[in-house]
Amino acid sequence: MTYCAIDFGTSNSAVALPDGLKIRLAPVEGDAVTLPTAVFFNTDENNQSYGRAALEAYIDGFDGRLMRSMKSILGSPLADTSTDLGDGSAIKYTDVITLFLQHLKQKAQKLAAEPLTRAVLGRPVFFVDDDPRADNLAQKQLEACAHAVGLKEIHFQYEPIAAAFDYEARLTQEGLVLVADIGGGTSDFSLVRVGPERAKHMDRKSDVLAHHGVHVAGTDFDRRVELSTILRELGYQTLDPQGREVPNRVYFDLATWHLINTVYTPKRVSELQLMRHLYPDTHFHDRLMRVVDRRLGHALTAHAEEAKIDVAAGGTTEIDMEEVEEALRVAFDEQKLIEAGRDETQRIVQSARETVKRAGIAETDVSAIYFTGGTTGLRFLSEALSAAFPAAQPVFGDRLASVATGLGIYAQRVFG
Ligand SMILES: Nc1ncnc2c1ncn2[C@@H]1O[C@H](COP(=O)(O)OP(=O)(O)OP(=O)(O)O)[C@@H](O)[C@H]1O
Ligand SMILES: [Mg+2]
Repeated sequence: MTYCAIDFGTSNSAVALPDGLKIRLAPVEGDAVTLPTAVFFNTDENNQSYGRAALEAYIDGFDGRLMRSMKSILGSPLADTSTDLGDGSAIKYTDVITLFLQHLKQKAQKLAAEPLTRAVLGRPVFFVDDDPRADNLAQKQLEACAHAVGLKEIHFQYEPIAAAFDYEARLTQEGLVLVADIGGGTSDFSLVRVGPERAKHMDRKSDVLAHHGVHVAGTDFDRRVELSTILRELGYQTLDPQGREVPNRVYFDLATWHLINTVYTPKRVSELQLMRHLYPDTHFHDRLMRVVDRRLGHALTAHAEEAKIDVAAGGTTEIDMEEVEEALRVAFDEQKLIEAGRDETQRIVQSARETVKRAGIAETDVSAIYFTGGTTGLRFLSEALSAAFPAAQPVFGDRLASVATGLGIYAQRVFG
C-alpha cells in the first residue's frame, strides 16, 4: 500500500512519498521538486498548463487566464463561486484546486508501485484568521478536492509541525524548537519538543506546546512594495485639487492578485476614465489607464515580487516599468523594503511571541528557531525574529522543501 504527502502552498507546492525507509520528494516539473501553485487556462489552444509552464504561457501572452494563490480563497465566499476564463466558459475556484492536486498526484503516481489512495495534506495553522467556522470550511473544501482526485484516506497535519519533524530528523539531542514557516500567504509558528528519542513516538500531541499563526507573509510584502513604488508612479496617494487623496481602491485592487481582473471590466474602466480631472498631473492618470488598457496588473505584481527578492539579502535594484512608459524605472533597496513592510514584520514577530506566550514558557527556554518557507529569505525578517529570542540558535532549513519532507515523515508514521 502506498501513500503520499502533499504540501499545497499558496505560492509553491510539493509532494513527498516513501522510498524504502526514506522520504523523497517527487520531481513535479522536469527535475524540480517544487511546483509554483499556478494553473494557466489557455483559451487559444484550449488546454491547461501548471507551475512554471503556466507562468511562462501567461507571460508569453497566450489568451487565457492564469490562476495563482488559490489556497487563499479557501474558506472565503469566493471559493464556491465560478470565475470567467475569458472565452465564455467559467470554472469554480475549488475545481481549479482539484485540477492542480490531480496534476501533483499524477507526478507522485509515477514513482509509486500502486494507485495512491492515502495522503497526508498539510494545512496552515489558520486558513482564515479569527473565524473558526470559515477555517473549518477551508479544510473541508481542501479535503473535498483531495477526495475528488481519488484520495480516499486523508489526514491533515499543521505545516509548521511538519517542518519540526524535518528538523528533528537531523538532531542528536533534545531541544525546544520554535518553527517559523513563513511562506507566501501565512506565517505559521509551532513550539515543539524535539529529539531523537521523541521522534520514535507516534503520538506527539504532548510535545507540541503551542501553535499559532497569522495571515501575513510574502505576498503582503509584495503588496506593500507595489503600493510604495510602482503604484505611486501611477498616482497612488496623489492629492486632488481639493487636497484629498484620489480614490485608492483601484490601487489596492491592482496590488491584490485575485482582484486584478476586476479592474479591467468595462464598468470599472469607464469609472476610471471619469477620474481624470482629479489628477493635477494627468501623467499619472495616463499611466494608470495604460496599465488597465494593456492589462499589465499581473506583470506589475510580478515586478514587485522580483524587486523584493532582489533586495531580500541586502543591496539595491531597479524596477523596470518599460511596458508602462519608456524609460520608467524606480530605484529600490532593502531599506525601502524594511520601511514598506514594517507593519507586516511587526505582526509576524508578534505572532511568534504569542506562540511562546501561549505555551506558558519563558522566551529564553526556546533553544532553536528553525526557519523555513520562502519568505525567511528576507534577512531583516529572520533577524527580527532571532532578536526576539536571543537565547535561541537560528537554524535555516530547506526553504522550499522542509514542510513537504516533514509531511512525508508524518505520513510514514500514520500509514507506514
Ligand atoms: N529569496 C527569497 N527571499 C525572500 N522571499 C522569497 C525568496 N524566494 C521566495 N520568496 C517568497 O516566498 C514566498 C513563497 O514561499 P513558500 O513557497 O514557502 O510559500 P507557500 O508554502 O507556497 O505559502 P504558504 O505556506 O503560506 O501557503 C513568496 O512570497 C516568494 O516571493
Ligand atoms: Mg508553505
